[in-house]
Amino acid sequence: MTRPAGVQAPVGTHDVLAPDSARWQWLLGTFADWAARYDFGLIISPMFEDLAVFHRGIGEASEMANKEMYVFEDRGGRRLGLRPEGTASVVRAFVQHHPALPFKAWYATPAFRYERPQKGRYRQHHQIGVEALGTDDPAMDVEVISLAWRFYEALGLKRVRLLINSMGHAGCRGDYLELLSEHLGAHEASLCEEHRPTWARNPLRVLDCKRQDCVEVTAGGPMLIDHLCHECATHFAAVREGLSSMGIASELSPRLVRGFDYYTRTTFEFVSEVLESAQNAIGGGGRYDNLVEQLGGDPVGGIGFGSGIERLLLVLEAEAVALPGIQPELFVVDTCPVDASSALIDELRRAGLRVARAYDARSMKAQMKAADRSGARLALLIGPRELAAGEVTMRDLRGEEGAGAQVSLARAEVLAHVLERLKKRP
Ligand code: HAM
Repeated sequence: MTRPAGVQAPVGTHDVLAPDSARWQWLLGTFADWAARYDFGLIISPMFEDLAVFHRGIGEASEMANKEMYVFEDRGGRRLGLRPEGTASVVRAFVQHHPALPFKAWYATPAFRYERPQKGRYRQHHQIGVEALGTDDPAMDVEVISLAWRFYEALGLKRVRLLINSMGHAGCRGDYLELLSEHLGAHEASLCEEHRPTWARNPLRVLDCKRQDCVEVTAGGPMLIDHLCHECATHFAAVREGLSSMGIASELSPRLVRGFDYYTRTTFEFVSEVLESAQNAIGGGGRYDNLVEQLGGDPVGGIGFGSGIERLLLVLEAEAVALPGIQPELFVVDTCPVDASSALIDELRRAGLRVARAYDARSMKAQMKAADRSGARLALLIGPRELAAGEVTMRDLRGEEGAGAQVSLARAEVLAHVLERLKKRP
């Protein structure tokens, strides 16, 4: 039978069901733990904002604003946008609520971008990230970058590299752009097809271009890192030294100009060696010292990063990291003509155990099959015989005692025995 239209998730989006969603839970839990260790508090803000927030945040003329954002008008005629990233909303919330400084926030959020979907690139992806506002101290850059690094370590990732660069401040970047434009203008004919006619609009994008033509032209050209002012160079050196003092190696990557116009000074990206290079960034971020002002606040700096959950899961799989599942610990099989198990199940769950059960009065065979499939270690069986004797049969489904080993327990002692067997304390 053909299904009616509209019952599939939109192109570039995915449903995440158990057991895969257990990996998300674990990943989010690990990130929440590390964010708390670094003294970041959770922020939850709307998924859509006045379009002006994103236009002022990511640049009205940017490719993202013009080609990738989901924009709509609500019934009240307001122009709104779905968030394509997390930073602009956090900065808007910061300007609106005037929290104490420094303001350190972490988030987990969907982000929407109308991109060509492929492995590792989706129209709705999910990011975990942090933003720290209100200080220019390079120690904050070090905190933000090391938080990401320690989090990746905690996940068990081994093949991640940290690339780092500085975009300078408006002054040194302005001077550098003149030099770069001069160089690109002189070699215009050798640029790739896309950038030959467009380089002048945003010369920095040419540095980012992976095509051989542009790589060759820019290889011989000036790099911003060699043209930083004294303050920006000092800031950058302090960040790298701070990281190095913690044993975190950062690789200078002079071509790293990230996709948003808001970046100033420190920019960084975490790339995985086990993903294809087009989608190998598992996280990235940087400093944005003008963004708060652009969104109507005081001129204070900020820095943050975002990391793609889907990409992290791809890397975890590629690096063969064993991911914890969230399986039931017990499966209760009840074949009595009356409900003989709800109270017992309630008692077990209230004691902290993960308990699954069958429904619809299915046969013993069908319930045992479901018990095997559930991944539970123990089954508790209550049939008419057990009910009459005030007992429960505890059967090992795959434990050390050997699958199938079973014992009869007095109903009142079930919880204590189960806890003992699962080595859990009440
Ligand atoms: P971004 O580099 O655009 O930065 O995205 C951060 C991460 O999200 C990427 O490194 C990647 O892992 C993931 N990602 C991005 N786009 C997609 C996609 N279409 N499909 C799957 N994963 C994707 C930002 O969004 C900045 N807001 C980061 C930041 C925070 N900078 C300062 N603070």
